[in-house]
Amino acid sequence: MAIKPKKASENKEKAKARTTFQSPKGMRDILPREQAWWQRVMKTSKEIAEFYNFLRIETPIMEDVALFERSLGLDSDVVSKEMFYVRAGGKDRYVLRPEGTAPIARAYIENGLHHISQPVKLYYEGSMFRHEKPQAGRLREFHQLGFEIMGGQNDPIYDAQIILATHRLLEGLKFKNLQLQVNSIGCRVCRPHFRKKLLDYYRKHERALCEDCKKRLKTNPLRLLDCKEASCVALKEHAPSLMDSLCTSCSSHFKSVLEYLDELALSYTLNPYLVRGLDYYSKTVFEIFVDGFDLALAGGGRYDYLFEMIGGRPTPGVGAALGVERIIEVMKQKEIDVPQPKKPRVFVVYIGDLAKRKALKIVEELRVNNIAVKESFGKDLLKKQMQLADKGEAEYALILGQKEVFEESVIIRDLKSGNQESVPVLKMVQELKKRL
Ligand code: HAM
Repeated sequence: MAIKPKKASENKEKAKARTTFQSPKGMRDILPREQAWWQRVMKTSKEIAEFYNFLRIETPIMEDVALFERSLGLDSDVVSKEMFYVRAGGKDRYVLRPEGTAPIARAYIENGLHHISQPVKLYYEGSMFRHEKPQAGRLREFHQLGFEIMGGQNDPIYDAQIILATHRLLEGLKFKNLQLQVNSIGCRVCRPHFRKKLLDYYRKHERALCEDCKKRLKTNPLRLLDCKEASCVALKEHAPSLMDSLCTSCSSHFKSVLEYLDELALSYTLNPYLVRGLDYYSKTVFEIFVDGFDLALAGGGRYDYLFEMIGGRPTPGVGAALGVERIIEVMKQKEIDVPQPKKPRVFVVYIGDLAKRKALKIVEELRVNNIAVKESFGKDLLKKQMQLADKGEAEYALILGQKEVFEESVIIRDLKSGNQESVPVLKMVQELKKRL
């Protein structure tokens, strides 16, 4: 069931009673101590995107609800259970985006991107929102990095290139033992035949299906294949295979994708049960896993009908998205190191009010000269400041006392050896640069 806003009066009463606040369930603050991981992931994704000539795109965080209803499908879990409606001006036509592909296809159509050289290769990163049951690796606000190739020919080399960029990004983050699973879910020609075969099979076994799958039988039979309930998993073993039902065009497209992957020496597993949960997919679908982590780090596929579903002209497309929180969780589990931010090598220490004022100016002079510096303004005690300089692993302290202020000088102290020298403020930058 979709999540609809409560009445305003109910909310007002609750707001009055509140004394403490927490981030919304399933949504997290990304604190300074997390930033090194985030920056590492963002830096690598930018390098990969630029290398493979993807151009960055950003779209709004909300979209018209109909965009997702039409493209992901009314019966998809995302649309039927997980949308966050935004109430504004008495209407709730907008939802927080649950994924990035449909919005980018909308932007492609709306901005006439078919007029530029095709295909258009785009990459993006940003928050997505799904009202799921929060648990490890499953959040309500999560971040995706994505690659999309839109327009041009329906060429299997683009499927391979998307898989390659996604794989290389994870490799660039030092992930080992990646498992790439691939499948083809056919097209408008062959999928209806497969759907019929699947229905014939499952109708015979309806009683053994879980409650959700009984519903899926009516709404989205393909999804029966990715149910994780034991009774449904057992039934799946003998279910008809998609692979046997592909038409000539889908089969040859898929064969070419696999040949490109072979050429690239990217190992993969054929998973005939991989169907993905969104209506816009056709032909190639894939997911990437890593050893010891059950959830997919990345997923994607081809979506040649998406543009028509949302009012555009027929346009081929293929893409993938990676989950940043999942990636970071695994990096931590596997103790993949990330470079910590460099600490400033110079620490400014002051004694007394007058020196405090001058110290403020000295920090500015160092900024102009590109010398990273730390201070602890507000902690006036000399001992405290010196302790902080040591803790921050600075190599040099710039010390300003009353005497230095009057003489327009500053003491440069080597914090390791304890040697120090008084130098005129005018020569401070030059002297520091000699030492750094
Ligand atoms: P998706 O498989 O729904 O595909 O999501 C892609 C990735 O986002 C997943 O593999 C996972 O890492 C991450 N993810 C999804 N849901 C959550 C969650 N609740 N919490 C944390 N991480 C999550 C798509 O969204 C498609 N738009 C991908 C695509 C791009 N297909 C073609 N182009």
